Amino acid sequence: MLRRSLDSLPASRIREVANAAMGRDDVLKFWFGEGDLPTPQFIRDAAKAALDEGETFYNHNLGIAELRESIAGYVNRLHRPQVAVDAERIAVTSSGVSALSLVAQSLFEPGDRVAIVTPVWPNVTAQPRIMGADVARVPLSCHAGRWTLDLQRLLDAAPAGTRAVIVNSPNNPTGWVMAQDQWEALLAHCRRHGIWLIADDAYERLVFDGAAHAPGVLARIDPEERFISANTFSKSWTMTGFRLGWVVAPRSFVAGFAKMVEFNTSCAPTFIQRAGIAAIERGDALIAETRARLQASRDALVSQLRQVPGVECAPPQGAMYLFFSVAGHSGDSLGFAKRLVSRVGLGLAPGVAFGPEGEGYVRWCFAAQRHLIDDGVSRLAGYLGSSGGGVEAGAAGRI
Ligand SMILES: Cc1ncc(COP(=O)(O)O)c(C=O)c1O
Repeated sequence: MLRRSLDSLPASRIREVANAAMGRDDVLKFWFGEGDLPTPQFIRDAAKAALDEGETFYNHNLGIAELRESIAGYVNRLHRPQVAVDAERIAVTSSGVSALSLVAQSLFEPGDRVAIVTPVWPNVTAQPRIMGADVARVPLSCHAGRWTLDLQRLLDAAPAGTRAVIVNSPNNPTGWVMAQDQWEALLAHCRRHGIWLIADDAYERLVFDGAAHAPGVLARIDPEERFISANTFSKSWTMTGFRLGWVVAPRSFVAGFAKMVEFNTSCAPTFIQRAGIAAIERGDALIAETRARLQASRDALVSQLRQVPGVECAPPQGAMYLFFSVAGHSGDSLGFAKRLVSRVGLGLAPGVAFGPEGEGYVRWCFAAQRHLIDDGVSRLAGYLGSSGGGVEAGAAGRI
């Protein structure tokens, strides 16, 4: 009954695990990509004030002028581009996922080739597939305690005629961060062949090496180049429930994009956009705190898990996730994640949710309070201990 491209998409494997926890209040939920703290008060207050002012009407497809200006100013301060980004190149969207899906709707025709670095948050590969594009998956690999990309493999997967390359860095689920020299080589390749380069920058501020943002090429882009940065307020400013995002794109793309926004959501709510302005104007300290908290949680989680026999993990360089394997257990990641929930109330996301190359791993979102992380590690260790260090039938353990 439904479109064929939809039929071929798997249902969310994370939901499948979450369903196993239905009706239980003793489960530690590390499966979704959000923290356990509500949005800071000053951001909520800005939304409330806008509601009290009666800002409840439709507005411009591309966002209110003040927010577009504010985002352009933020991008220029953060990236110091060679050619300053003006507000005409900014389009506001109702979330980062909406930004990605509108980009896919605006660019992709059936049969287009789109190369994507994987494993990745499933929505990134689903959007082009919904449009009928052919997705070439280019897997990261884990060597010597680090996730790495074989760049040549990515370039080979994106020959002349490819419509787009999509890179999510820092990456969900691995925490891999693409190095500057790889970005430069990829940009040169895309320029040479007229390929759109799409950066999913959702976690660009959540890096753990002291830099203000992850490496990238936004600063080197000419205003009419085939480059798009998709971004969101969700992660940097703890605003997942607000559903607010944006794209930086060529001016000529943005004009057509406005039509796509019209046909989808028409506009992002004005009072939500007011909250976005407050976040950008007054949120620097919040980002610094979030990043410090995440780094401390990452360090605690990694050092504790390394004490657990069989666990193999590469410390993430960014984002908020640890993607790790447990020898003899995580080979069937969906089954393992379900057993962890039902036996010890530990909620992790199965690696296979992020594509076939994620099989053998589970993802732990460490944007959580320290005592919950400690409790989670004890539950994992308890489960592994009580299953006799047991290799479960049929589970091909992988490190
Ligand atoms: C890689 C990646 N990109 C984009 C998003 C979009 O976030 P949102 O739709 O909350 O703005 C997410 C959310 O989890 C993500 O993990």
